[in-house]
Amino acid sequence: MRTSNGQPNVSNVHETAAENNGKPKAYSALYALQLRAFIDAAEDVDADPDTIEDLLEGLEDGDGEEEIQESDLDEDLDSESLALPAHEQHSAIEGSGDLDDLEVETEVIERLKREADGAWSKEETRKMMHHLKEHGMSSFVREYVITQNIPIVKLLFAFGISLCPELRNKQPQTMLYFLRVAMSKELHLREKLPQYNTLADAVSLIQASKRVVVLTGAGISVSCGIPDFRSHNGLYATLKERGTYDLDDPQQMFDIHYFRENPAVFYSFASQIYPSNFIPSPCHRFIKAIEDRGKSCHSLSSPKVDESHHQNYTQNIDTLETLTGITRVLQCHGSFATATCIQCRRRTPGTEIEKDIMEHRVPFCTVCLEAKKEAEEVRQAAFKKKAKKRGRKEWEEGSDEEEEAIPVGVMKPDITFFGEKLADDFEHALEDDRDKVDLLIVIGTSLKVSPVSEILSHLPHSVPQILINKTPVRHINPDIVLLGNADDIVQHLCEQLSWELPPPVEKRLEVPSLARPAKRTSGEMMGKTEPIRVAKSHVWLFEGAEGGKWVRDIEEKFLEENAGSESRTTQSRVPKEGPEVKKSRTRLG
Ligand code: OAD
Ligand code: ZN
Repeated sequence: MRTSNGQPNVSNVHETAAENNGKPKAYSALYALQLRAFIDAAEDVDADPDTIEDLLEGLEDGDGEEEIQESDLDEDLDSESLALPAHEQHSAIEGSGDLDDLEVETEVIERLKREADGAWSKEETRKMMHHLKEHGMSSFVREYVITQNIPIVKLLFAFGISLCPELRNKQPQTMLYFLRVAMSKELHLREKLPQYNTLADAVSLIQASKRVVVLTGAGISVSCGIPDFRSHNGLYATLKERGTYDLDDPQQMFDIHYFRENPAVFYSFASQIYPSNFIPSPCHRFIKAIEDRGKSCHSLSSPKVDESHHQNYTQNIDTLETLTGITRVLQCHGSFATATCIQCRRRTPGTEIEKDIMEHRVPFCTVCLEAKKEAEEVRQAAFKKKAKKRGRKEWEEGSDEEEEAIPVGVMKPDITFFGEKLADDFEHALEDDRDKVDLLIVIGTSLKVSPVSEILSHLPHSVPQILINKTPVRHINPDIVLLGNADDIVQHLCEQLSWELPPPVEKRLEVPSLARPAKRTSGEMMGKTEPIRVAKSHVWLFEGAEGGKWVRDIEEKFLEENAGSESRTTQSRVPKEGPEVKKSRTRLG
């Protein structure tokens, strides 16, 4: 359905439906646009099959449905267009090329726009958005949909969305889905808090905060010898480079459907990510220090307050948090601590499959194997009887068929694969914690995997956010960004805080000599280069930072702003590309 110039073929949807059915009613371009956007949004916002079905209902017949699904609207007019005010949706449609078809709709669109504009005052909208950003989606729905009983069509106006007539009378759960899509888009636009920018701000935030949440990813275990996933030398790149497995995408290694088909591939490399002789990094111990501090604060004041609060949301499955002695940790992507049979769902301690993992074998469920053996014996006896009666050939064929029908129970470690739902405690914990947290520190994650990546937008937007990572994470908007080796950064922070990093508490296996706590004396820190601030921005570079163009752009922007404000005070024009800009650009490489 793609037209030659690559433009989305909105008018095609319009015409085909009208022509094919010979009916006067045609799908409006706006309907096609909004429908497409809501269907696309299901990638980020959960929609059950009933909702999708209801969403597609009303398309006149199967043909029409296909037209809209297959049209290439998503190429250029993706779900972003949903969040545009009605008049901008209009121009998005205009931009798509075929004005003739749209003229008939101008009137409708103008009417929708007037309706949206008049629905809420600026102040009302501001209040609603504030409620959403501070108290979250559930609270928003409780307040406005349930308590105040405001129709969702009207609530959507506050988000700049004016539903086309075809979408206004959908099932309640579909209407709620529309609202969730709108809310989720709004939440992704977290504004940076302007008052926090410097390293000193970071230090005093950590010092002053009572309920810190630290969100971690593979980056904090890299110095322990466990590769991360998406870096240029990470697991996915290595798998791709080696090309040992015929995978379209190295992430298939963690795809539940792929695993069911071919568990041997996962077990051929699982030992690489299995927590064996690793020792925690300074980052792990930094989190422990934060937890210890929290505990001592609260035992002095009100010990109950903090009981259910999680210190650490980790995406890592290496269980190094436990080895460090961090107790308030939520392992969002599960761990190797337990394993489950994909057939009978029997759960066992992870140690049961440890030997198989280390020896690259697929572990089978002993219970399933036993059952399979028994069933096979019974069946074979029956077939032998039959075979005697009917001759040998048939028996052999029959036996093959039956064998396939007996399921084999493969054991899978309880780590969350793509295509699997996170354990319920994730959602509950986040709902519980969201009102308690007063600082979020994100360390060593690319935040490419939801729903963990959503934590940043779902916590109250007034909670300060600090990012510690080797590379920038472009799609978020933290208040302070510390780029570089996370271990160096947290050690720098600890020095400023006058904190000692606690040693790991547990030892695993008989630990080889390298397993002494990787404690660095302050002497070792000496000789480290001091962090560099990127112009007057909130971004700081430490050893190991890989800021690239993102950092250069920030620097340029801040130097320009600075030059701008200077020129305003001195009433003189400073050229954009002044010598100063060039000089510091070289400095940052
Ligand atoms: P990624 O590999 O996507 O991201 C790791 C981040 O850490 C990158 O942004 C690196 O720049 C950064 N990093 C690497 N070394 C660092 C260092 N020494 N200091 C500071 N930062 C460093 O890993 P995750 O974001 O954790 O899922 O990936 C999320 C999920 O995707 C994982 O939990 C895994 C994967 O598929 C499962 O295993 C189920
Ligand atoms: Zn089983």
